[in-house]
Amino acid sequence: MLIKRPKSWEISENKTTDENIYLNRRTLLKAAGFGGLGVAAALNWPGNAMMAAEQDPNADLYPAKVNPLYADAGRPITDEEINSTYNNFYEFGSHKRIHKAAESLITRPWNVVLDGLVENEMTLDFDDLVRKLPLEDRVYRHRCVEAWSMVIPWTGFPLKSLIELAKPLSSAKYVRFETFQDSKMASGQKQTWYPWPYTEGLTMEEATNDLAFIATGAYGKPIAKQFGAPLRLHTPWKYGFKSIKSIVRLSFVEERPVSFWQELNAKEYGFYANVNPEVPHPRWSQATEQVLGGKDRIPSKIFNGYGEQVAHMYTDLAPEVSFR
Ligand code: MTE
Repeated sequence: MLIKRPKSWEISENKTTDENIYLNRRTLLKAAGFGGLGVAAALNWPGNAMMAAEQDPNADLYPAKVNPLYADAGRPITDEEINSTYNNFYEFGSHKRIHKAAESLITRPWNVVLDGLVENEMTLDFDDLVRKLPLEDRVYRHRCVEAWSMVIPWTGFPLKSLIELAKPLSSAKYVRFETFQDSKMASGQKQTWYPWPYTEGLTMEEATNDLAFIATGAYGKPIAKQFGAPLRLHTPWKYGFKSIKSIVRLSFVEERPVSFWQELNAKEYGFYANVNPEVPHPRWSQATEQVLGGKDRIPSKIFNGYGEQVAHMYTDLAPEVSFR
């Protein structure tokens, strides 16, 4: 992001696992009655992620029913170990290996506030919310502005179903999202040059597009802390920094919000941040991307390949606005 660009791909090809192997491994372990730390250690999975998932009060909700519209992302699912150990979550450090530091994230109790220009301001307890809205499984491509990508099997619900609970007024033009702020828990927030808390924004039209998704689970279980537990956004047609983690507040507002990265460097990180291989980042090309765990770089696609569902929202915008 702003600070540094990864110089080279660090994870070797022998760590990749295709989807079938991943699914078979899970099925096998379940059938054999394995669980807990022993298996996590045997699989060399990071930290105690698997044990944490089993102790989660909502473990029974995962995996959910697959939404057939998003059952296949056209590329193999990224191996969970690779995904779990290569993350951007600046609250826990401005590098990729934050998974151990992220274990200090306390996810209970967890409230989400919906406020601003709405009929129903509300504070929702996460454990109530996750049982209130029907969960579904979706596989999404994820393209970071740093030109790497993954494919992730999420569980969660469309953002629009959360928004409907609050009944926004017609004067609400944008949603502003906010992450927790607690520098005792998240030592990265002691880095005072960042504009904490992490914030992001979407237009109401973007936020209610069917693709905008709130993930509460990944890889068939409650979402791991490093992915932004207990709930994070994923807007797969946009660069990954729009997909804010560990959300505590959604505010419905009239003015366009200024996001974390925009505030740091508006010349490099814009509001829309839609993926476009033809509009380079000021410091590097966006033409191709490194698939994490894959061998070769592949060409990137406009809107990360989701144009059919989202392109209509940007027909009036100049490329330098829509794609930066
Ligand atoms: N959300 C918060 N709260 N803090 C962050 O540092 N990083 C963003 C986004 N959401 C970030 C965040 C960036 S830059 C990316 S690319 C994605 O999360 C990374 O998501 P992943 O770690 O699940 O791949």
